[in-house]
Amino acid sequence: MDKRFEGQIAIVTGGASGIGLGIAERIAREGGQVVLFDLAESKLQEVSKQLRDDGLLVERTPVDVTDEQALETAMGDVVRQYGQLDIVVNCAGIIGPSATKIADYPLAAFEKVLKVNLVGTFLVTQCAIRHMLPRNYGRILLLASMAGKDGNPGMAGYTASKAGVFGLVKGIGKEYAQTGITVNGLAPAVIATPMNQATAPDQLTYMTSLIPMRRLGTVEEVASLACWIVSKEATFNTGFVFDLSGGRATY
Ligand SMILES: NC(=O)c1ccc[n+]([C@@H]2O[C@H](COP(=O)([O-])OP(=O)(O)OC[C@H]3O[C@@H](n4cnc5c(N)ncnc54)[C@H](O)[C@@H]3O)[C@@H](O)[C@H]2O)c1
Repeated sequence: MDKRFEGQIAIVTGGASGIGLGIAERIAREGGQVVLFDLAESKLQEVSKQLRDDGLLVERTPVDVTDEQALETAMGDVVRQYGQLDIVVNCAGIIGPSATKIADYPLAAFEKVLKVNLVGTFLVTQCAIRHMLPRNYGRILLLASMAGKDGNPGMAGYTASKAGVFGLVKGIGKEYAQTGITVNGLAPAVIATPMNQATAPDQLTYMTSLIPMRRLGTVEEVASLACWIVSKEATFNTGFVFDLSGGRATY
């Protein structure tokens, strides 16, 4: 495998599971030093040990992306320890209620999904930009979703939060377009990860039926595109949300 990320430092939020873990592993296999940020402490410990036992440069920090103070401390520690921050991938996210129409969707659940998926992503990106500006280099990737582009019925909180992530990418990308920092997004259709275990089976069947390839995407497929977006090769894309949808997205 190429060593595209040798000498680079990456933080991956939501790195203990699913897409975040897959992207983190691929960056590390390509020579990067990765620090996993996640809430799930025991999972974090387990996966980082597995990757380290495999000879990869992977560390971990338990952190809640909605806790501004904890996040600032954790990211500051990474920069102090390694002297730089090249890549930040925002994968921390929750799905919230599914197969639930707005008439039955609890406000508290809506607020929680927005807090993790949108406010958390805002905080991580804000903190990352502040650390990247002095070196005038950085690659920031935000995980959106086809739900935010097309709208998935039965998931008002998730859909609204991911539409918000589209807005963040487009706005922030333009803010820093004349620096060496790019901010892009990725909008997958359904990917086979533990997140889908919390999705109602009817909802999952509906979302898969919208994919012309008629299958779920894989974490490896997401990691492959994500790693190009956060590599030094990707120099002329910012403020853009890439699709990864088995043919679902056509615009
Ligand atoms: N799986 C899919 O079908 C799919 C499709 C489109 C977009 N996405 C997005 O990709 C990202 C990753 O999804 P996944 O399928 O890998 O999910 P996952 O559930 O496997 O992993 C999400 C991780 O985020 C962590 N997390 C949740 N809240 C957190 C918080 N407040 N602070 C820190 N960590 C927190 C969880 O502990 C978990 O390890 C999410 O943003 C999700 O919305 C997923």
